[in-house]
Amino acid sequence: MTAQLIDGNALAKQIRAEVATRVAALTAQGRKPGLAVILVGDDPASQVYVKHKVADCEGVGMHSVLDRHPATMSEADLLARVRALNEDPSIHGILVQLPLPKHIDSAKVIGTISPLKDVDGFHVASAGALLIGQPGFKSCTPYGCMKMLEHIGCNPRGKHAVVIGRSNIVGKPMAMLLLQAHATVTICHSATPDLGAFTRQADIVVAAVGKRNMLTADMVKPGAVVIDVGMNRKDDGKLCGDVDFDGVREVASWITPVPGGVGPMTRAMLLVNTLDAAERAA
Ligand code: GUN
Repeated sequence: MTAQLIDGNALAKQIRAEVATRVAALTAQGRKPGLAVILVGDDPASQVYVKHKVADCEGVGMHSVLDRHPATMSEADLLARVRALNEDPSIHGILVQLPLPKHIDSAKVIGTISPLKDVDGFHVASAGALLIGQPGFKSCTPYGCMKMLEHIGCNPRGKHAVVIGRSNIVGKPMAMLLLQAHATVTICHSATPDLGAFTRQADIVVAAVGKRNMLTADMVKPGAVVIDVGMNRKDDGKLCGDVDFDGVREVASWITPVPGGVGPMTRAMLLVNTLDAAERAA
C-alpha cells in the first residue's frame, strides 16, 4: 500500500478562506478581529515564525500588531505589556513567542495573558479546560492535527491512537483531544522501552518528538494514519519530520508530509482561535 498524502497546505488554504469570510462579517459590524504577537529578542527562527503569523492575519483581513522588544527587556515590563494588551479592545488574541530570554519566567508571562485572549492555548486555564472537557482554546498544532483527521474522514472513536511525545504544547493536548474524540490513547516518550511495540498497535500515530527518522516502516501497522509534527533538518539542510517518510508511506494509509503537512495547519488554527476569541468578545 502507498499512503495518500494529507495536504496541509490545501486544507489550511480552505480554512483561511472560511476565516476570511467570517472576518469580513465581523469587520462590517465594526468588530475587526485583532491579534497581538509579542517577540522578545532576536532569535532568527522566532523572527520568521512571527513574520508568518502577522502576514497570515493580513491575508484574512485581520488586524495584527507585532510587538517587538530587545532581549534585555525586563520581566516586569513584559508583564505590563501583556496586561495592557489584555485591556485593549482592538486585540482579541495575544501570543507571546517562545522561547523567551532566560531571565524571564515564561510560565509567569503566559499565566498573565487573559484566558479569553489565550489563542495559543498555553495558559493553565486553557490546558485545564481541555483536560476536563470545558470550552477553551485548544493549542494550535494538536487542533490542526484533529482537523486533518476529520478532513480525511478518520473518526478516532474506538481507534487506538499512539502519541509520541509529552510536551505541554503538542503531546499532552494532542492526547487529550484524541481522548475527547473517544480514541484509546497511549502516550509514549523518551523513557518508553520498545517504542515499536506500542506504535505497531496503533491505528493513528502522532509523532511529536523532534528527532529525524524516529518512526520507521517496521514500527507502523499496515493501514495506519501517520501524522508527523516533527520539524527537523536533514544533513543537506532540507526540512524533514520525525517520520521516515519514504519508508512509512509504503505501509500507512494516510501520511502528512514535512513540509506542507502539520505546519500550515498550526498557522491556520491560530487564525481560527483569534476569530473565535473576537466572536466571543462581541
Ligand atoms: N515557539 C515555537 N512555536 C510556538 C508557538 O506555537 N507559539 C508560541 N507562542 N511560541 C512558539
